[in-house]
Amino acid sequence: MARIFSGVKPSGHLTLGNYLGAMRRWAEVDQHRAEALFCIVDLHALTVAHDPARVRRLTRQAATLLLAAGLDPERCTLFVQSHVDEHARLSYLLECVATDGEMRRMIQYREKSAREQAKGGSVRLSLLTYPALMAADILAYGTEEVPVGDDQAQHVELSRDLAVRFNQRYGRTFVVPRATVPGVAARVMDLQDPTSKMGKSHESGTGIVYLLDEPEVVRRKILRSVTDSGREIVYDRAGKPGVSNLLEILAACEGGDPEELSGAYESYGALKKDAADAVVELLRPLRERHRELAADTEYVDEVLRSGAERARAVARPRVDAAHRAIGLLPPG
Ligand code: AMP
Ligand code: TRP
Repeated sequence: MARIFSGVKPSGHLTLGNYLGAMRRWAEVDQHRAEALFCIVDLHALTVAHDPARVRRLTRQAATLLLAAGLDPERCTLFVQSHVDEHARLSYLLECVATDGEMRRMIQYREKSAREQAKGGSVRLSLLTYPALMAADILAYGTEEVPVGDDQAQHVELSRDLAVRFNQRYGRTFVVPRATVPGVAARVMDLQDPTSKMGKSHESGTGIVYLLDEPEVVRRKILRSVTDSGREIVYDRAGKPGVSNLLEILAACEGGDPEELSGAYESYGALKKDAADAVVELLRPLRERHRELAADTEYVDEVLRSGAERARAVARPRVDAAHRAIGLLPPG
């Protein structure tokens, strides 16, 4: 059976982008067809300025939302990255395989470090080495497929390069993984700024649908989304980013095709209304299930505890093998 690994950062409240780009597929498809591991990557949340109590809270909230979205601990392994030492252990070895140049080429690093510097802040070294840790997350498990949104494809590509290079230099140790990106909604855009990704930590929240927003808030955000000049409803991501984003969101909710859907609309108003209704309905069961699960933190903590135990057992032998292969003397 294929091995699948993916992760989500507890750096903010989870969004519709996270759900349509990644989480929904994990729950509906991936956990049923493969040996799947899903990880709340809390170490990655420390790469930018953070509040310790908030990271802790968001970590449990992400776990609760993933369960609410339908991840079933009987079918997949759900755990927290920092609970399994193998990630950090392997990350260092991969830093010894990666180059400074390839880390600096990563789009996410360039964008986030530029943003940080523009604010007069400093850039954490861990932001630069982030892709080595992400590669460790993936490679430690012998992962074949990594279901992610489009923004993570470059990082998965780098993980492939590191796996191939390590294997060539030190002997076959890692499976070479590949990213799988959804056909629709691989990059959900901000509703107020449809040329940038809907991301958890965008300055203002008005263009972001959070999974736990009240239905009226979701509706308002979608109805007030910016559209493009001109009145026709056409699917053209470059020329008409606002309308195309709404078409894509609606298509993802209803399982249709954005291009085909565009023919069914004559006004922005009707499209916005249908998209708002579809998203509210899509998120309703998730919110309800989240409310139940949030009242049972003991259950969530137990899922994470046993998930970490299973994950550790899978990762340990391969990470030990990597230590031996690279030239480290095993402890006697
Ligand atoms: P992150 O929130 O950056 O930890 O992302 C977790 C997962 O959600 C990754 O697979 C991302 O690629 C995916 N994701 C995040 N934002 C979006 C978005 N706006 N559209 C599609 N996928 C997204
Ligand atoms: N970097 C990913 C993101 O920002 C999160 C992540 C960390 C991840 N490790 C991973 C995703 C391993 C897939 C596999 O979304």
